Amino acid sequence: AFADAAKGEKVFRKCKACHAVGADAENKVGPILNGIVGRAVASVPDFKYSSVLTDMGEAGKTWTPEELAAFLEKPRAYAKGTKMSFAGLRKEKDRMNIIAYLASFEDG
Ligand code: HEM
Repeated sequence: AFADAAKGEKVFRKCKACHAVGADAENKVGPILNGIVGRAVASVPDFKYSSVLTDMGEAGKTWTPEELAAFLEKPRAYAKGTKMSFAGLRKEKDRMNIIAYLASFEDG
């Protein structure tokens, strides 16, 4: 039942067209995800978010593992009006593993 970051790296292939992590990461179609676990929602300064994520961020929401899991399961149900065009990760294991992988990248 333990999350596996190495497996999460493989799941992250589904995100790579739009998101980057690591030292040289830059915004793509989606914002950089360094430090995403624990980060304030919609807080990459030079990224233009949808109003739904902007509002959540202004309301003080942060990406806890639980919030990330809920968003990644069904992005458009969790955040109605999000511009993230991704159906979601149906398997709980995939969600847990990708969160473990993302948690290995610090801010910056
Ligand atoms: C936003 C993760 C797939 C495009 C986000 C956010 C997270 C995330 C955590 C919120 C970032 C923040 O608040 O700063 C992921 C993961 C993916 C994935 C883990 C794969 C499992 C994709 C794909 C696309 C995409 C495939 C493009 C087709 C976006 C966009 C936003 C976003 C445009 C901003 C959404 C908005 O402002 O409503 N993503 N994403 N993502 N992602 Fe993804």
